[in-house]
Amino acid sequence: MQKQIVTYPEPFLATKALPVRSVDGRIRELVRDMFDTMYASKGIGLSAPQIGVGKRVIVLDISPVEEEIKPFALVNPEIVGKQGQVEGMEGCLSVPGVEGMVCRYEYVTVQGKNESGDPVTIEANGLLSRVLQHEIDHLDGILFIDRLSSSTASAQ
Ligand code: NI
Repeated sequence: MQKQIVTYPEPFLATKALPVRSVDGRIRELVRDMFDTMYASKGIGLSAPQIGVGKRVIVLDISPVEEEIKPFALVNPEIVGKQGQVEGMEGCLSVPGVEGMVCRYEYVTVQGKNESGDPVTIEANGLLSRVLQHEIDHLDGILFIDRLSSSTASAQ
């Protein structure tokens, strides 16, 4: 079910989300709601706090840009490896009308669990790496506007 997206400057977006203890039916329902909400807003990534749920869950679908990468959800995602730095333009469904340049790690290795509760490891670069870091930031209460490179903020 599509949910309302929490937008800046709502303080909830700046709080740290809690780890999921078990990947059960409620988490799978949360994941479905997150996909519904993300697609309704034409986003390519969404975190649970953005629909008002303080749990460490993210969903991504960058297939509009990188066709071969299927949509997926990650529970308790954690960056366990990182290398290099690269700047790129970002926006966020929770910060409508704003885009800006953000410096991110070029390559990341992310571990977490899938919707079935199985452990997964993702080696990412390019857009996938950027979106993973952006969404994991949300779980720590960090928005991309907290990381903008100097004077690059612009209205769309
Ligand atoms: Ni965002």
